[in-house]
Amino acid sequence: MTTIWNSSERFDRSAAQWDENPRRTSLAANIANAIVETAKPRASMQAMEFGCGTGLVTLALAPYLQTITAIDTSEEMLAQLQKKIETLGIRNVHPILADLVHDTVSPLATESLDFICSSMTLHHIADISALLSKLNGLLICGGILAMADLDREDGLFHDDGTEKVHHGFERPELQNMLEDAGFRNVSFRTAYEIKKTNRAGRDATYPIFLVTALKP
Ligand SMILES: C[S@@+](CC[C@H](N)C(=O)[O-])C[C@H]1O[C@@H](n2cnc3c(N)ncnc32)[C@H](O)[C@@H]1O
Repeated sequence: MTTIWNSSERFDRSAAQWDENPRRTSLAANIANAIVETAKPRASMQAMEFGCGTGLVTLALAPYLQTITAIDTSEEMLAQLQKKIETLGIRNVHPILADLVHDTVSPLATESLDFICSSMTLHHIADISALLSKLNGLLICGGILAMADLDREDGLFHDDGTEKVHHGFERPELQNMLEDAGFRNVSFRTAYEIKKTNRAGRDATYPIFLVTALKP
């Protein structure tokens, strides 16, 4: 069976029900809290989240920021976010349909990004080094990167075994990659622990790290 990276069709299909899963909403809330506590977003900052999905983290961070550009490859995920923006009358969140890795992203805010974040998207990106270099290029000097994702896992976290993903990350290895891409002051903390029955039917705990780093 063929496995593929980042199936936007798969995310399109789950978009309408995405927020109905309490495990996801709770994870996003905890990640957003950890980002606020650790990376300290400010009202002067132009920010970008890549892989924003339905905007669970984006919308929690938006009140702390001047603007946040929300990038995703799934049209349907962004449609869910757009609905929330309209219902809530939010003015500082700008959704953009783009592949952060493969497209030339020149959205509204990326001329002077102070802050880039992501939640549970890194493991969907095939070439992490290329991504980190791109993110470094998008940030101003003094800009901050904050990414939350799975620590190295047993390969059974995802219910769909045909999805091609990284099975989490070793923190020291990711730290080296961040430093190679030009980041400094790399720091990790555990933001949350997901408890779920995995694909093999076993109850398991999956720690989620938050890594923050500075573009000097
Ligand atoms: C596991 S979901 C996480 C969604 C959201 N951040 C959350 O915490 O609920 C990963 C998201 O990343 C998006 N994505 C994957 N690869 C991407 C890329 N190269 N550029 C932009 N978005 C991407 C997917 O469409 C999906 O919405």
